[in-house]
Amino acid sequence: MSYTFKITKVDQSAISKVDFDNIPFGKTFSDHMFVADYIDGQWTNLEIRPVAPIPTHPGNMAWHYGQAIFEGMKATRDAAGTALLFRPEMHAVRLNKSAVRMSMPEVPEDLFLQAIHTIVDMEKAWIPPQAGSALYIRPFMYATDETIGVKASDTYRFIIFVMPVGPYYTDPVKLLAQDKYVRAVVGGVGEAKTAGNYAASLLPSTMARKEGYHQVMWLDGVHKKFIQEVGTMNIFFVIGEEIITPNLDGAILAGITRDCMITLFKDKGYKVTERPITIDEVMEAGENGTLVEIFGTGTAAVVAPVSHLKYNDHVVTLDMEKRSISKWAYDTINGIRNRTIEDKFGWIVPA
Ligand code: COI
Repeated sequence: MSYTFKITKVDQSAISKVDFDNIPFGKTFSDHMFVADYIDGQWTNLEIRPVAPIPTHPGNMAWHYGQAIFEGMKATRDAAGTALLFRPEMHAVRLNKSAVRMSMPEVPEDLFLQAIHTIVDMEKAWIPPQAGSALYIRPFMYATDETIGVKASDTYRFIIFVMPVGPYYTDPVKLLAQDKYVRAVVGGVGEAKTAGNYAASLLPSTMARKEGYHQVMWLDGVHKKFIQEVGTMNIFFVIGEEIITPNLDGAILAGITRDCMITLFKDKGYKVTERPITIDEVMEAGENGTLVEIFGTGTAAVVAPVSHLKYNDHVVTLDMEKRSISKWAYDTINGIRNRTIEDKFGWIVPA
């Protein structure tokens, strides 16, 4: 089905004010956004309009009970300048999975895709040409009922706005594993891309930063020993000849970059395993010299090498000069995104 969007354009684009050689992540926004409202059981008021604050009533249920979900995707360009999307349909599916878990309405996949294509096509001048940069696309949905009673909202807003971004992590990442706080438990909402998961991570992350670490590496909530993810990214370990990433147990976000990596590693002939892995196994491999690399994967983080991992009083330090798998993974996914490497798996879609 094809949808009709009301389109209102800015009088003057803000693009000339942007220094594309120096874009901090998530602070510079393009001119237009897509907005839709869910009212009486259907998506309506489909509109593209200038990016601007949206007045919100203090009784808005999203503020109080946290029905808020989002996605993170990227658009890039090839050498000819064609704007490209990366696995957009997978993001539509994941958004709707989050919606179902948070008792929110799904966005029809064809509406999601048409809105993404339209906004990216309108804002394609904002896609940075610089290697490692991209147009980050943030689709999100939140409750809009104005009621102070705990129940699922009847109305929602779905917005897509976009922003040129540079790298999320500019340095190798230092991770802290701890067993005081947990991010998610099986049966909870860890698998959903919902705002509360990120809110829950903030206090422990702030504490980690005070110790000189960028992020917390989360352990499971029951045994406090099985590694889950990092919150901003999924996590991979290279131990000996094996590339290991925690299996999706229901508490871990099913990362789309994670899925790409597993596919690419298998295709290259690496031994890649999705399985439970404990912090003790990793620390021991760090001690006995078999831990070769640790890296995170995510849309924002792409492939981020880890230089330090601390757990209790032990710190494992990884030699950044020796890393080869994460470097290959980073170059390959970026090459596919810019069409300098063959897109064997059909992940690229012209916007
Ligand atoms: C993404 O990778 O797109 C995310 O949503 C993670 C966020 C911390 C930026």
